[in-house]
Amino acid sequence: MAKSKEVKKENKDDEFSDKIIDLEDLPGVGPETARKLREAGFTTIEAVGVASPAELSAATEISESTAAKIIAAARKMADIGGFETGDAILERRKKVGKITTGSESLDKLLGGGVETQAITELFGEFGSGKTQICHQLAVNVQMPKENGGLNGVVIVIDTENTFRPERIIQMAEARGLDAKDVLKNIFVAQAYNSNHQMLLVDNAKELANKLKKDGKEVRLLIVDSLTSHFRAEYVGRGTLADRQQKLNRHLHDLMKFGDLFNAAIVVTNQVQAKPDTFYGDPTRPVGGHIVAHTATFRIYLRKSKGELRVARLIDSPHLPEGEAVFKITERGVEDK
Ligand code: GTP
Ligand code: MG
Repeated sequence: MAKSKEVKKENKDDEFSDKIIDLEDLPGVGPETARKLREAGFTTIEAVGVASPAELSAATEISESTAAKIIAAARKMADIGGFETGDAILERRKKVGKITTGSESLDKLLGGGVETQAITELFGEFGSGKTQICHQLAVNVQMPKENGGLNGVVIVIDTENTFRPERIIQMAEARGLDAKDVLKNIFVAQAYNSNHQMLLVDNAKELANKLKKDGKEVRLLIVDSLTSHFRAEYVGRGTLADRQQKLNRHLHDLMKFGDLFNAAIVVTNQVQAKPDTFYGDPTRPVGGHIVAHTATFRIYLRKSKGELRVARLIDSPHLPEGEAVFKITERGVEDK
């Protein structure tokens, strides 16, 4: 417990700091058991909390009854299966932060910017600007609050190998930021397949906890693209249910990350351009309904003349539908 108390003292105004718990903080888990747990893939208290006593016992050679106690403690600490009171939720909601996209009109469409504790889905055809907006947000989240940032750092799960530090440098310099510092606060991992992509969310949690101890808050988690591996791996009708189930779990893991760290979750999703049938039915991206129901904000992006892009907000429960026009230039995302 010593470690988490220490951190609590440092950031006592931040209610999220009490969520930093190491495996060693669980009663009955010493360094040796913690090592075995980590080796077996139980790297976070959440992972321990949803394990079965038999699984844990097999991984660590402790008895099943001790394992059951450890699991119970982990559940309590990680708030798994727990209820939250309305006022606690209200307190958490008060901390919702917003990250500027770089375009005032796009921010306005989103009700002020990309929100923390929510999933924002960017979907559209190739070249519509999904990856560019992700890069821009990775820069902007680092800016101070008065400039539309959250003083935060960012984790990127890159599935298509499209993260470009060179692009970050351009965008950072355009905002007068030290590009080297900006790059140091972007933590990128390549996901090799959908399983690896899902695992990386656990790793992201560990990393975010570690960074928090160094005084760095992860305020943005990007998955670009959310669906490319799923689409490539699950082909044919028979596999659809499996895919949707996994995608659903993945999205809920992401949502949990957003709540736990007060981070914005931004995911991208490609759609095929079929101008004739597609228009008027922009809700046909991969993962269809699952993503649609879990994402809090869904932005449909389409190309317009030259640098211009049009964003439309789809089915938002608390924002009016509308469109925003912005442009993508060498400087990044800007108003037209
Ligand atoms: P997929 O990942 O292929 O589905 O596309 P995407 O939606 O992620 O597209 P992305 O965000 O990569 O957008 C690429 C487009 O952004 C390019 O075709 C350019 O139009 C624009 N773009 C990227 N870099 C620059 C730049 O330095 N200057 C300008 N003017 N435009 C750029
Ligand atoms: Mg892209």
